[in-house]
Amino acid sequence: MPIKVIVTKDYDEMSKLAARIMANAIRSKPDIVLGLATGGTPIGCYRELVRMHREEGLDFSRVTTFNLDEYVGLPPTHEQSYHYYMDVNLFNHVNIRRENIHIPDGMAEDLEKHCREYEEMIKRAGGIDLQLLGIGRNGHIGFNEPGSPFDSRTRVVKLTETTRRDNARFFKSLDEVPTHAITMGLATIMEARRIILLASGEAKADAIARSLEGPKTVMVPASILQDHPDCTFIIDKEAASKLKGSYQRTF
Ligand code: PGA
Repeated sequence: MPIKVIVTKDYDEMSKLAARIMANAIRSKPDIVLGLATGGTPIGCYRELVRMHREEGLDFSRVTTFNLDEYVGLPPTHEQSYHYYMDVNLFNHVNIRRENIHIPDGMAEDLEKHCREYEEMIKRAGGIDLQLLGIGRNGHIGFNEPGSPFDSRTRVVKLTETTRRDNARFFKSLDEVPTHAITMGLATIMEARRIILLASGEAKADAIARSLEGPKTVMVPASILQDHPDCTFIIDKEAASKLKGSYQRTF
C-alpha cells in the first residue's frame, strides 16, 4: 500500500487531526498499545488528547504505551529526558496507569540487555497497534539515523551532529546534548500495525519529499515506510511544499 498523505493548512490542524485519529483508535480498542514519539512536533497532538480526556472523557485507563527512544545518560528527572517530556506533555494529565507506560531507560546499567528486554515487552503486550512518528530533517525516525539498517531493532545508537545540533535548542549548550540514545529499530517500528507520521514546517519539506517520492534507501530512514501496509503522513502545507504528486488536502 502506498503511504497515504494528508496535507493540512497548518500545525494546529495537523495536531487536531492526528489526535482525532488516535482518540478514535483508543475508543474502538480501549486496551490499545500505542507507540509514542517526542520532539516539538507531537506537542499539539498531545495537548489535544489531554483536552479530549478532560472535556470528552477520553479514557486512558487501559491504554499501554511504548516510547520510541530516550537519551543515554539522562535520568528521568532531567528536563530534557523523554521521560520528563512525556510526563509534562501527556501522562501527568490523563488517567493512564504508570505500570502501562514504557520508555527506554537511558540510565540502565546494562544497556544492551535493556534493549533486548524492551523488544520482549513490546511482544508480550501484543505488539504496537498504532505508532506515532515525527521525522528529522535528515529523514530519521526515532533515533534511527541515516545508514540505520532496515532490519535494526531496539539498540544504542550514536547521534549524528545534525540531530545533536537540531536538539541543542532544548539544552543550555551543544556540549550538554547527549551523544548516544536508545531507539526502537526500523524493523521494530515497521511491525506496528498502523503508523502515523507528523511533520510541520519547511525545514521538514526535503525529508518528506525524499521519504515519499524518493527511492527506498537506508540514507533516508523514513523511506522504509513505503513498504508499510498502513501508514499515513499528516503534514502541514509547508512540510508538503517540495512534493511533486498531488495529495489529499483538508483545506
Ligand atoms: P521535532 O523532531 O519534532 O522536534 O522536529 C522530530 C524528530 O527528530 O524525529
